[in-house]
Amino acid sequence: MIIKKLEIKNFRNYDSLSLELNDKINIIYGQNGQGKTNLLESIYLLGFTNSHRSFTSENLIKSGEEKAIIKGTLIKDIPYKLEIDLTKTKKQVKIDDKIINKLTDYLAKMNVIIFSSEDLDLIKGSPGERRKYFNLELSQLSINYYSALNDFNKLLKLRNEYLKELSLNMPIDLNYFNILTDYLVNKSIFIYQMRNKFVEKLNKICPPIFEKIANIKGFNIKYHPSVELENFDKETIKKTLEDAYNNYLEKEIRLKSTLYGPHRDDFSFNIEDNNLKEFGSQGQQKMAIIALKLSEIEVFEDFKQTSPIILLDDVFSDLDNNKKNNLLNHINKDMQVIITTTNLDSIEKKLLSNAQLIHIENGKILKNEVEK
Ligand SMILES: Nc1ncnc2c1ncn2[C@@H]1O[C@H](COP(=O)(O)OP(=O)(O)OP(=O)(O)O)[C@@H](O)[C@H]1O
Ligand SMILES: [Mg+2]
Repeated sequence: MIIKKLEIKNFRNYDSLSLELNDKINIIYGQNGQGKTNLLESIYLLGFTNSHRSFTSENLIKSGEEKAIIKGTLIKDIPYKLEIDLTKTKKQVKIDDKIINKLTDYLAKMNVIIFSSEDLDLIKGSPGERRKYFNLELSQLSINYYSALNDFNKLLKLRNEYLKELSLNMPIDLNYFNILTDYLVNKSIFIYQMRNKFVEKLNKICPPIFEKIANIKGFNIKYHPSVELENFDKETIKKTLEDAYNNYLEKEIRLKSTLYGPHRDDFSFNIEDNNLKEFGSQGQQKMAIIALKLSEIEVFEDFKQTSPIILLDDVFSDLDNNKKNNLLNHINKDMQVIITTTNLDSIEKKLLSNAQLIHIENGKILKNEVEK
């Protein structure tokens, strides 16, 4: 799918803007603080209805205004229009000018993948950040994963409440507690298997992309379940988890919390066996996340039979000229990409041919032209 036209009103530092986009590479350039990220954010918001960097609508609406509007004309086989209207307290979405009340219907209409500086937390941050990312991706790909995870979280909360009561020596129904644990194990099996399958898939796609951009072999993603699993067969997962819950019940009661399961898993990004978190340079960490995001595209295409719109915010900083050009070379294929940068000069001219170059200053388009 592609976004052909974007129109925004009273969003962030934009009064009103209408922008035609190219089917392939679009580069938004301009100095710091001019509205490049805001523009990407508006596209992200159009797809997800939430911002990737702000929890409240308050900051999204231009200061002093009451309502922001973002509209897009998209094409997936046929053209259609999406719209999101934001007030400080309300959000309304429309497809082809018709108000849509069921959010899932709307969300299915546009697929976006974004890279932004916040994504570096995927490597640098806590295991929770990584789990959040994998949960989000898997939920987008599989509604079954989404509901298994939801069920799991509800069961986990209940089990933790029971553990708390057990720790206070309150009389509780142990039968019920055991049934809860059984359910939790059952939901966990599917989550473990899906996470493992996803990582296996990424490990087929991601390393060559990383190698192409970074000129380094041996990139891999490892999945570290919180229990040691010999394999991801149903029976193995079931038995391993049951053993952990049986053997460590006392500890769980003491700590009032479920210590094993998918909510304690982690993932790592490595070159050979070296974790990039401790071992990688800033640029290598960045390239790893970019490679991950770009490989998502292929996973997406497999599952959804369409390619998402790719938003790359400030991908070039921290990369030397050679790596910048490697990256552009890789994405110069059949996908719509919208990239922001402060500096066009370091990019090889030939990689820019046919790219749409959009110069932004203070929330306005100064220039929008196709590079010949
Ligand atoms: N609600 C708002 N109303 C008006 N202006 C806003 C609002 N929110 C943010 N801004 C302004 O938007 C500008 C930041 O825009 P943005 O983050 O898109 O910059 P950028 O071009 O990506 O810069 P950089 O190159 O530094 O990343 C700031 O000047 C900020 O004051
Ligand atoms: Mg920015």
